Amino acid sequence: MTITEDIKYVGVNDHDIDLFEGQHQVENGMAYNSYVITDDKIAIFDTVDAHFSEEWLANIKNVLDDAKPDYLIIQHMEPDHSASIGIFMENYPDTTIVASAKAFTIMKQFFGCDYAEHQLVVKEKDTLELGKHTLTFVAAPMVHWPEVIMTYDSYAKVFFSADAFGKFGALDVEEDWACEARRYYFGIVGKYGAQVQALLKKAAGLDIQTICPLHGPVLNENLDFYLNLYQTWSAYEPEDKGVLIAYTSVYGNTKKAAELLAQMLVDKGCEKVAITDLARDDIAEAVEDAFRYDRLVLATTTYNGDVFPFMREFIESLTERNYQKRTIGLIENGSWAATAAKVMRQLFEKSKEITFTETTVKIMSALNEESTTQLENLAEELCK
Ligand code: FEO
Repeated sequence: MTITEDIKYVGVNDHDIDLFEGQHQVENGMAYNSYVITDDKIAIFDTVDAHFSEEWLANIKNVLDDAKPDYLIIQHMEPDHSASIGIFMENYPDTTIVASAKAFTIMKQFFGCDYAEHQLVVKEKDTLELGKHTLTFVAAPMVHWPEVIMTYDSYAKVFFSADAFGKFGALDVEEDWACEARRYYFGIVGKYGAQVQALLKKAAGLDIQTICPLHGPVLNENLDFYLNLYQTWSAYEPEDKGVLIAYTSVYGNTKKAAELLAQMLVDKGCEKVAITDLARDDIAEAVEDAFRYDRLVLATTTYNGDVFPFMREFIESLTERNYQKRTIGLIENGSWAATAAKVMRQLFEKSKEITFTETTVKIMSALNEESTTQLENLAEELCK
């Protein structure tokens, strides 16, 4: 794949992966992107997952023929991008590895070797001349690890963005960008909104025509769309008006209440209503929707004097990612000493700008007239 006249794609698609980073479902696989710039000097951006080293080396060979790379630029040390450094250096032992100081430390931790004789340590604003192409390095700590550097090519106006602007999904599968990019963003860097904001400020000062991330497609049209979404996500602003109802249910009664509330909201003309069973649906998808919409309803049973385990896991997945600036309604179910609403409220104690609805629905085992009226009041409040 040609990105510009002298920037070529040499990445690979992974359809064998079961869980990305040990936890994220990726039904459409994953892409580990890698790029080659051929100029007076030849530079390669990042390696790929260990299972695809040979395919990646063949892709490089296909572009370079018998030419030898001068630089291997390691923007990010997570093994989905760094695991083929060793085999690369066996094939091209004279290459200089370009990375941050922290990246070389992590390299030694993972692989027992940091190629001390072949290092070029770079930091923010350092430049590397390839010929026509001048590369300027942009430090992007915690997007997604502390060692990350990104790279701006001022000749081609290309921004190599490491994990930023990536998405789940292999490149040979057509799918909507925003859906899988949002799930990827909140799953992987959602906690680091402030660091992403800092990166966006730096990017705003660059004339960028193409974004080359390490996952997902190369972006070269309508870049404001992607930059604006990253701005919204990293500022923790809701992207769309709507309500996510997330529930757990043991005997079906809490589920019935959640579904009845969903119907009430639809009947009242609520912009968008999404509903998820936290025990059965992908929790990362639920996290994504919680950040996407401006209102959230949590419905769960009391369990061991606490909340049902899947609900606790879900709420902690939100709070550890700095969930904020949202309205939350609570539905609790309990047959004797109901504590779920109180516990859920406490779990958000440290979260900023959370508004709880005045109505909290209390179900005693199953819906009755009183709790159904409370549901109506909650629906009314959420649609105000
Ligand atoms: Fe794609 Fe943070 O590794």
